[in-house]
Amino acid sequence: MDLHDDAAGAKEHACAEIASCESLEDLDSIRIRYLGRKGALTLLLRKLGQVDPEARKSAGKLLNEARDAIASLLESRKQELRERKYASDLSAGSIDVTLPGRIFSIGKLNPVLRVMDEILQIFVGMGFTPVEGPEIETEYNNFDALNFPPGHPSRDEHDSFYVDGGFCLRTHTSPAQIRVMKSQPPPVRVVVPGLCHRRDTPDASHLMSFYQIEGLYVDYDVSLAHLKGTLAAFAREVFGEETRVRFRPHYFPFTEPSAELDISCLVCGGKGCRLCKRTGWLEVLGAGMVHPNVFRQVGYDERKVTGFAFGMGVERLTMLKHGIGDIRLLYENDSRFLKQF
Ligand code: PHE
Repeated sequence: MDLHDDAAGAKEHACAEIASCESLEDLDSIRIRYLGRKGALTLLLRKLGQVDPEARKSAGKLLNEARDAIASLLESRKQELRERKYASDLSAGSIDVTLPGRIFSIGKLNPVLRVMDEILQIFVGMGFTPVEGPEIETEYNNFDALNFPPGHPSRDEHDSFYVDGGFCLRTHTSPAQIRVMKSQPPPVRVVVPGLCHRRDTPDASHLMSFYQIEGLYVDYDVSLAHLKGTLAAFAREVFGEETRVRFRPHYFPFTEPSAELDISCLVCGGKGCRLCKRTGWLEVLGAGMVHPNVFRQVGYDERKVTGFAFGMGVERLTMLKHGIGDIRLLYENDSRFLKQF
């Protein structure tokens, strides 16, 4: 037996077969016949063990060379046959290169989150720093420290979600005021975006979970005029230069005085229409001067510091800005609706 001759013969045969092979299927069967587990070259390699040690080295080298040569010829022939098949499919018309490609739609942020970013940017531009607080809050931060009396209706089981151990799902972002003031001395200038939860039955203007943005500014000489100027500038940026604002007296336990901010109606400009229920005004947020009891709770000297706070519903602002009539549309995930923004 002469492995040298066998190797040379196998290589020669394989090369001839590969060169004249005309299909990818045939090419694969050639590969199996020579290089497969029971292929000619594989069997020859297995016989190496029986060869005299002196002859083994040169026979092994030859066999390896033959195997590598066959493998690389197989590969280049495969490329040729593939290209040929592609070209003939193309000219036979079985690949229609004029067919439009499949269009994948690219997702984007929900309009509520985009309006939230826009609002935060406006306040960042005025020197406020965004911070966050937890969604599961202590009842103390959510109510007591904010001067809610023990029997206040929003503490009712019917209005808030409670978690064992003195916790609740925050019903507003105001408890972040307590956290921020307890963690640092004045001055404080923060905005707090976040999800809030109330036990409301969903309707056109209510959801059980919704976003708010809280604002808090505390220093040694903050006045109601600063509050109004800040919110007027904010309203003009979001709703347009011509927007007018007014304060309407209101009540919140943690601010005194308290007010709601109205903007001139976006549809009628103030003349009175269906959107503003003929009043000419739209309510956008709650605000007021921080109550001295709140300063006392966080250890600030209520005789020295003053501050203002405000809180707004981001879905409501999104609806006003984009003329959306039902809050539920924002979260139904109907792409026909969401695509518009
Ligand atoms: N937390 C109030 C609410 O949820 C809004 C508010 C915040 C009012 C800050 C005054 C000051 O209705």
